[in-house]
Amino acid sequence: MRVPHFLTLLDLPSSDVLEIVSRAIELKTNPAAANNQSRKTLGLIFEKSSTRTRVAFEVAMTQMNGASLFLTSDNSQIGRGEPIEDTARVLSRMVDCVAIRTFAHNDLERFAAYSRVPVINALSNDFHPCQLLADMQTFIEHRGSISGKRVAWIGDGNNMCQSYINAASVFDFELNIASPANFSPDSDLLAANSDRVSLSTSPRQAVADVDLVVTDVWASMGQESTKAKRLIAFADFEVSGELMSLAKADALFMHCLPAHRGEEVTAELLDRDASVVWDEAENRMHSQKALLEYLLN
Ligand code: CP
Ligand code: NVA
Repeated sequence: MRVPHFLTLLDLPSSDVLEIVSRAIELKTNPAAANNQSRKTLGLIFEKSSTRTRVAFEVAMTQMNGASLFLTSDNSQIGRGEPIEDTARVLSRMVDCVAIRTFAHNDLERFAAYSRVPVINALSNDFHPCQLLADMQTFIEHRGSISGKRVAWIGDGNNMCQSYINAASVFDFELNIASPANFSPDSDLLAANSDRVSLSTSPRQAVADVDLVVTDVWASMGQESTKAKRLIAFADFEVSGELMSLAKADALFMHCLPAHRGEEVTAELLDRDASVVWDEAENRMHSQKALLEYLLN
């Protein structure tokens, strides 16, 4: 049987992704309902920093009576050049699932191609699908189904933005992206989703009448050296209460965090009722638990 992987939202049938989010909502109110994962181990390979993703995976496994082990390139042979394919073959004979946070998305694909067990993308330069499970859970909890709704992405056409493009087709919503010229998402991905995704350079145009406004940092992990240039390019892309006032009156605001107050979002907006970022962060744990349950059973 083919091993399922979760490298992007498109790797699983859409109906299964929707079910994982429903299950996350259920597990949040009834944690004891989670399947027992005793004797199961999740391997975590993180080549970039993390607070939420790592803690969510480790706590989820603990709560299901399973175990997790955390590896970085510094404390394993990965950093000393052992080929990804060899690491995949060895680790997947010992652990039951692997979550990887790395730079090149292709490294995840290479690992998955040689893995006997499911591989989860815990963030790559191109996609962050686990975050979208939590974001969709959060929207549904606050506002009901996101199907047919309108979402605005303001800022960098990064891994989060590209995952929103995939989510638009899986969860059936319209997505208005506003990014500075030269910081837009992948053109092929945009073209493949042109029926529901639009691109402009105007945040005001993008947020008009939407149900959800989302942003993220202007310089992602690995882009620190271009931060000064980005601060200039993104100067007009800060999400503020004033920008939110152009969206629907009950529009929500989300940010995957960590947030840079005074850059992509104002401090004032983060603390408004419309901002559901703390629920969104908590839901990383519930949704990753539901994902693990799905992949481990
Ligand atoms: N949002 C998110 O993935 O956070 P971490 O980098 O802390 O895992
Ligand atoms: N786009 C950000 C997300 C962090 C969770 C990054 O890749 O650094």
